[in-house]
Amino acid sequence: MNHFELKGGELACEDVSLAAIAEAVGTPVYVYSTATLERHYTVFRDAMRGTGHGEPLVAYAVKACPNLSILKTLGAMGAGADTVSEGEVRRALAAGISAERIVFSGVGKTAAELAFAIDVGVAEINVESEPELNLLAKVAAEKGARPQIAFRVNPDVAAGGHAKIATGKSDNKFGVSISEAERLYANASNHAHLKPVGVACHIGSQITDLEPLEAAYGKMRGLVERLRGEGLSVERLDLGGGLGVPYFHSPTPPEPAALAEVVKRALGGLDIQLAFEPGRVIAANAGVLVARVIHVHERPEGQRFLVLDAAMNDLIRPAMYEAYHDIVPVKPEAGGAAPLAYDVVGPICETGDTFARERILPPLKAGDLVAFLSAGAYGASMSSEYNSRLLVPEVLVKGEAWAVVRPRPSYADMLAREPLATWL
Ligand code: LLP
Repeated sequence: MNHFELKGGELACEDVSLAAIAEAVGTPVYVYSTATLERHYTVFRDAMRGTGHGEPLVAYAVKACPNLSILKTLGAMGAGADTVSEGEVRRALAAGISAERIVFSGVGKTAAELAFAIDVGVAEINVESEPELNLLAKVAAEKGARPQIAFRVNPDVAAGGHAKIATGKSDNKFGVSISEAERLYANASNHAHLKPVGVACHIGSQITDLEPLEAAYGKMRGLVERLRGEGLSVERLDLGGGLGVPYFHSPTPPEPAALAEVVKRALGGLDIQLAFEPGRVIAANAGVLVARVIHVHERPEGQRFLVLDAAMNDLIRPAMYEAYHDIVPVKPEAGGAAPLAYDVVGPICETGDTFARERILPPLKAGDLVAFLSAGAYGASMSSEYNSRLLVPEVLVKGEAWAVVRPRPSYADMLAREPLATWL
């Protein structure tokens, strides 16, 4: 469920007309709904609270939509943060999320990033390899610190909506194997500068079939039980993120409640604190990208191109993963003329800058506004200035109020970032 609905014949985010925002801020622009973010977070948290493992740590995956106002909104509801760079840790802290609720993951954390995470005291550094463990031990020893760590395990289970976002097979770069985790956990437990507190897994993203998750959770349970059998302390099991969202009407992905049932089945009776790292399921349907039609280019040969002012630099998912986003007119015409097939494209100079082929849409003309739905996750966070297009702005709506939470930079801002080499 989300709060983007037709009101007075035009698409609104909560009580604010998207056309009004487009008028004031210009297009393209991302617009997020506070009520939707809050609802998604609450539904997820409540489902996981019901799994019989006490209060879970729901660490929102910052990479999905890292805007400070989004983090602040979720942090105020008690969310923690799953982070993968010093920049993300800094964002979470800046948004008021306390270090005890921050998880730090990633296969290539640098010594400087590890040192920063130790200094601020994050809840858990998810160690993804033996070389990383050694690096962390060295950095921690230099500081006389003993950071809390979890081992990111690669359970060798295939899952996820696209090969580029599957992470849980043994040939993916993420995590250590289960047997390696057992060995490393035991070694690290005796280390003066490492404090293993748990194990973690994250097998992929846009997962719509819960079976692989159940298989992975079952393997993680076995690991926890074996570690405990050796007398080792394992306090936390981090089950990652990955739950899919409906980008199109079928197939409908499972709800958090169904995931909770899987957790119950796989982990029932295991006394352990659970952590989750949901990103997409919180943010995707809480945001849209609003764009304006620049031209409708109809070739005599028959193709019909809808040329928008948004491009792959603003929303790269279609170009990168062949992802499908619903596209809807912001002011649908009453009466409904017969729909037409459009190739929906942006202005960037490559053919990959295509959002959709032969998309059936109501007739549109230059100046009309359209919204890409389900664009809140991995939309703005993956945007760039490719083709020297200005970074796309972001707006957060709450009821009748709205605020620009990332303004569109000016061309002067863009140019000022690049000092000329002294010899030029
Ligand atoms: N935890 C870890 C360690 C992750 O690597 C990820 C996502 C998450 C949690 C959150 O997963 P989610 O709940 O959002 O599925 N750019 C791609 C998605 C990449 C996901 C990467 N890792 C896309 O646009 O589909």
